[in-house]
Amino acid sequence: MSTRTLGFKIGITRFWGVNQSVCLAVDGKLSFAVEQGRVVRDKHGNGTFPNQTIQTALMHQNTTLSDIDRIIVGYHPKLESTRFMNRLRHIMTGVEGTRERLGLFRSITDHYIEQAVGTRRCIQRHLSELSDSVPPIEFLSHHQSHATSAFYPSGFNNAIVLTMDFAGEYDSTVVWRGSPNGLNRIRTYPFPNSLGFFYSIVTEFLGYQALNGEGKVMGLAAYGEKNDQIAKTLRSVVDVGVDYDMTAITDGLRLDTGVERLEKLFDRGAKETPEQFTQWEKDLAYETQRILEDCTEAIVEEYINKSSCDNLAFAGGIALNCKLNKRLRNNDFVENIFIQPIAGDAGIAIGASLSKFDPRQVEKMGPLYLGPSYDPNTIQEYLSQNKIPYRCPSDVEHATAELLANGSLVGRFTGRLEFGPRALGNRSILADPRTVSSRKSVNKYVKHREDWRPFAPSILAEAADEYLCDPVVAPYMVQTFDVEPEKIAEIPAVVHPGDYTTRPQLVTRDHNPQYHQVIDYFEDITDIPVLLNTSFNDNGEPIVNTPADAISAFFSMGLDALVLEDVIVEKSALASH
Ligand SMILES: [Fe+2]
Repeated sequence: MSTRTLGFKIGITRFWGVNQSVCLAVDGKLSFAVEQGRVVRDKHGNGTFPNQTIQTALMHQNTTLSDIDRIIVGYHPKLESTRFMNRLRHIMTGVEGTRERLGLFRSITDHYIEQAVGTRRCIQRHLSELSDSVPPIEFLSHHQSHATSAFYPSGFNNAIVLTMDFAGEYDSTVVWRGSPNGLNRIRTYPFPNSLGFFYSIVTEFLGYQALNGEGKVMGLAAYGEKNDQIAKTLRSVVDVGVDYDMTAITDGLRLDTGVERLEKLFDRGAKETPEQFTQWEKDLAYETQRILEDCTEAIVEEYINKSSCDNLAFAGGIALNCKLNKRLRNNDFVENIFIQPIAGDAGIAIGASLSKFDPRQVEKMGPLYLGPSYDPNTIQEYLSQNKIPYRCPSDVEHATAELLANGSLVGRFTGRLEFGPRALGNRSILADPRTVSSRKSVNKYVKHREDWRPFAPSILAEAADEYLCDPVVAPYMVQTFDVEPEKIAEIPAVVHPGDYTTRPQLVTRDHNPQYHQVIDYFEDITDIPVLLNTSFNDNGEPIVNTPADAISAFFSMGLDALVLEDVIVEKSALASH
């Protein structure tokens, strides 16, 4: 008989939190996973208990809550009090001031409400709305959930496991030893000594929003250069290396306090909006990225050398930093690396759902098409009812490739929704990668954002050697590679203009035969086995989930065509209709 476990994430401190997700595992295999934001149509799924998302998962898997053996919540309420006590001690001994005292008051309030209500009872009450029989509920800490998501599906028997983010219950970086017996915590860097928090403060200083703009700072860093003055100033207050210490910037415990400290340190104001960056600001992004990379590499080197195990598994929000991942991949001391593709907090649900299985029983990470799918007949009925004309080509993959080769911007909605931050062809906006104007028009008409922002490609895995320097298996768009110099001019829309790197999805027939076929046909027509691929959502919106979401996004964006399973809707046909 099968064992079914349901994992999900709830919030740290502020009730149900952000970036919630739900994952169902059966006998150590991921069978369904979806982000709450995509179900409730709020990008980060903020502030609500994930009942609707759990219900979606159960419905699409034809199961009920009473069929689930265990529920594992990726959060440990008891550890929260460790952070609380650290924070209390810190505020009492160091930082004084009205704002800090207010922060303390809020923490105390949250803490007591949480204690009073009782997290477990509260979860039980919510789940009982779905079923009379609620399975046993267990807790797994935030970082252990990240670590499980990195190690269990890595395929490694032994590994050094690194988890890094803004903060878990009380920890912000943790080094683990993974073995067939599970995970052992080796070292903890407690909040607020957090590289994630430090990076977020710089993100805010540069005018972006923390917990949203970090990837943009990483992109900006590629336009920056080594700047000794910035490096010297920053490194005069923070310690870089295996014993890193960021608290000179972070121990005010608030983003705005950290920004004020940077303002004082550099004697210049923070940016109001993330526009028209000066070279100094680009250099600040570069030096911030360098500090992150230097610290992380030093930690990895130290613990790999100590353990004489050269496999590395990596997760947590910082593992979404693909420039950092490239550096880790290319050093001499890491032999094999697995980066959990859902490295951010959505991946907490993966770790939680897999944690009760023997690590050796857990299936190696496979395709990420783990979300809902929709019946093609229902889609056609929906289009007809809404008087939206469509055509049914005999070979929809070939028709898609033709549209792309003719310069159309195409939304593709096919099969199961991807889990994680990257669209991998099933809820993607696709375009011809051969011109810079292609990148500019996707930014302008579709994504409504700055025209310099780079895009990533989908490349046929068979052509990886031709286009990339030293490629490795990379099906998830989490790794960056240098582009072969003679190929840069061939695919300018998907090469970062600052450093000539790219963050590809290497598409195999095995992971996604239909999408592989589209690119294959595109190559037949153009000789280029590459497509520009960006997520099917407008700026600030969650990725489309249902056909109705896709149709509504299609009409609100400058897309030319929409592929919905085996039919195609085109704006040119609508105009003549
Ligand atoms: Fe996290």
